[in-house]
Amino acid sequence: MNTGASNVWHPNTQMSEWDVFDSISSGDGVWLTDSKGFRMIDGVASMWCNVWGHSNGEIVRAISRQAARLQHSPLFNLTHEPAEKLARGLVGMSPGMHRVLYSENGSSAVETAIKVAFQYWTNEGDAGRTAIASFERGYHGDTLGAMSAGHVPEFFERYRQHMFDAIELPVPVQGGANFGGGGEAVAAPEMLQRCIEDISDVLSARKDEIAAVIMESGAQMAGGVRVFEPSFQEQVSGICRENDILLIVDEIATGFGRLGPMCVYSAERSKPDIAVYGKMLTGGYLPLAATLATRRVYESFLGAYDEQRHLFHGHTFAGNPIAAAAANKNFSMYKKYDMVSHVSKASKTLADRIAEHMSSMEEVGEIRCRGLVAGIELAGGGSTADPAPPGASANRTIYEAGRKNGVYLRTLGNVVMLVPPLAITAPEIDMLVERTAKAIRDAAPSL
Ligand SMILES: Cc1ncc(COP(=O)(O)O)c(C=O)c1O
Repeated sequence: MNTGASNVWHPNTQMSEWDVFDSISSGDGVWLTDSKGFRMIDGVASMWCNVWGHSNGEIVRAISRQAARLQHSPLFNLTHEPAEKLARGLVGMSPGMHRVLYSENGSSAVETAIKVAFQYWTNEGDAGRTAIASFERGYHGDTLGAMSAGHVPEFFERYRQHMFDAIELPVPVQGGANFGGGGEAVAAPEMLQRCIEDISDVLSARKDEIAAVIMESGAQMAGGVRVFEPSFQEQVSGICRENDILLIVDEIATGFGRLGPMCVYSAERSKPDIAVYGKMLTGGYLPLAATLATRRVYESFLGAYDEQRHLFHGHTFAGNPIAAAAANKNFSMYKKYDMVSHVSKASKTLADRIAEHMSSMEEVGEIRCRGLVAGIELAGGGSTADPAPPGASANRTIYEAGRKNGVYLRTLGNVVMLVPPLAITAPEIDMLVERTAKAIRDAAPSL
């Protein structure tokens, strides 16, 4: 029971499961310290956004310098150098992109992308393009438009009547419930081909009504860590082009090195019209997200004022200078410390350690890794779609066992996520994996 001592309503949480929440009072590198002095490794990079660890001096100084100079001035009628510099950097790392719209969180940035796609077509004089197509178990955020583009029933179903319907496309992931008649074991190349045929059929049949396809870039995260088959994204991109449908790639959770490359869509040889970044943009220090558009998309919004072609969208704190300064510092540090090479080595260490410690654990089912992301299914749980055990969520039980073992964990249904700060070292990875394996063992009798 909640004691009522707090007035905070925690996100996506059954509040009755928690008596109290551990109060984090400081952070240092991969460590979080609570008010009683107890330390935990941040096993989920504070919801997948932390890059350099906590309290990094370079980013903290950049934030404090910017705060002392200009804490906020809006991008309405004005501009400022931190936002300009960041936009140059983002466009520079994102092939094909030309302009950047800012917002404060990933969901808003996805909403922006969807509005841009809808209005692109009305600007082009095609009022019939009103549909969004998106992928089975895709996740793009928790606001109404972003939820509508998502297909994770356990998150969104109870809001269905308030959402717009998005066309659901299949994903070539083994066991994918929506694929080719329901999760039978199919060899990967055949599965990929059948998915691509399905997608091609749907998009070509409905091309006159679809404004955009939206997909997570490289892998689906909140849907349960579902890594795309090689060439899937490239082929989807090709089908969108053939049918003149806009492609939006959501790099919020996967870009900026989380899966390895800075820009996943480019590594996957896909050619989107709109790309969205968030989470790790500021190194995980301040809220900021970005929606990028190609020149073709951007130019369709230009015209005389009374044509009313401009984008009717803007947030008060969009491109906030302190957040942009943090992002610029973060960005420069990727090069300075060659983060992409580090992630490539650290990813292998993470996958190897997980295999070593967990592949033969009877409490563990399938393990899926890419970059510095691992999804560890609890045995018997199957997937995030399975109901939590009666009475308590797997998340609550695993959190508690993690805490006792000194690791901060947050599961997605029955999938234990390991998504550490990117700068994590090899000895820290050893500790993270050992502690998580122990936590899963300890929690198993209560699951
Ligand atoms: C792929 C993806 N898109 C969008 C979002 C939403 O971002 P935010 O939580 O910042 O609104 C998330 C969050 O986890 C995500 O994983």
